[in-house]
Amino acid sequence: MPTLFDPVRLGDLSLRNRIVMAPMTRSRAGEGDAPTAMNVEYYRQRASAGLIVTEGTQPSANGKGYCRTPGLHTSQQVRAWRAVTDAVHHEGGCIVVQLMHCGRIASHYNKDPGTETVAPSAIRAAGKMYTDAAGMVDFDMPRALALEEIPGVIDEYRQATRLALEAGFDGVELHCGSGYLPEQFLTSGANHRTDAYGGSAANRARFVVETLAAMSEVAGSGRVGLRLRAGNDFNDTHDDDPVETYGTLLEAVNPLGLAYLHLIRMKTPRIHGLELARAHFRGPILLNDGLTPESAQRYLDQGAAAAVSFARHFIGNPDLVRRLREGLPLAEFDRATLYTPGPKGYIDYLTLG
Ligand SMILES: Cc1cc2nc3c(=O)[nH]c(=O)nc-3n(C[C@H](O)[C@H](O)[C@H](O)COP(=O)(O)O)c2cc1C
Repeated sequence: MPTLFDPVRLGDLSLRNRIVMAPMTRSRAGEGDAPTAMNVEYYRQRASAGLIVTEGTQPSANGKGYCRTPGLHTSQQVRAWRAVTDAVHHEGGCIVVQLMHCGRIASHYNKDPGTETVAPSAIRAAGKMYTDAAGMVDFDMPRALALEEIPGVIDEYRQATRLALEAGFDGVELHCGSGYLPEQFLTSGANHRTDAYGGSAANRARFVVETLAAMSEVAGSGRVGLRLRAGNDFNDTHDDDPVETYGTLLEAVNPLGLAYLHLIRMKTPRIHGLELARAHFRGPILLNDGLTPESAQRYLDQGAAAAVSFARHFIGNPDLVRRLREGLPLAEFDRATLYTPGPKGYIDYLTLG
């Protein structure tokens, strides 16, 4: 029976243990939406994870939604990410970048001049988001992408994957959760298109499948992961039949042979995310959400997951792997500094010893 501390392969990624750092937006990118020396230090401190999945990173300027998030579409950003991947590799770690195009979950206050907020349909998401310039504001009203524009958006992911390899990443993860662009295409509430990208579940899954195929063309599918939260309702996400929608998507991505499915387990009266994933996905499952060391080990024991990821535990415990292995106490984290600029609550958590 594998333990959390045993190595594992996810596609072409070799992890020295099965404890993965889940992606976390921390809103501390610098000028030009590029990582800084502080970001390098943050990831270096956490490099003993079997794999780090970076914070959500926009593949294009249009893809930015939140303030101070990093991008991967300029040479300055590539150089800055290179310092991150070098630091993690120097510590013997493995790191993939999470590509996150926010689509309609965005505010123009957070974006560069000349950019726009696009989505499958012109439907404004209910809710508000934080901006440095104007405080809490409504989400932008998005412009619906024309059919002939969609290949260009997919190409943004293709190009970002190219730049990810140039920046030294071991792989790339597609964020298809939290109501961002891929999930906007996928779910019936945000997608009212009547062309090949809307309507049936297979049509709504098309954008996600084509994007994963584009990323795989560049990196090889063994270096591409998919993040999903079947049945998600965050960020005004709604689907009329999530079991059909997410099941259809998983069946459609199987032929690609992805490195892993990063599943935020979701259990509601309407959907059991892990059962759905096990029924429809033929590949390694990286399981997340509210896990404890004990429950994580149980999922490995049951063969339900190849590896597990922790997000919040990694904030206050840069040396989480060692703490779990040696049964050392886990530190709490400070909510107030989750998204604030500066080192406080970011790189000042203690590594024991
Ligand atoms: C501060 C913070 C930022 C997050 N940002 C992202 C993100 O950029 N991309 C993503 O896929 N999930 C993001 N998440 C979700 C986490 O990856 C994870 O799914 C969630 O926290 C549950 O895991 P946990 O119980 O181990 O914390 C974020 C979570 C937190 C707490």
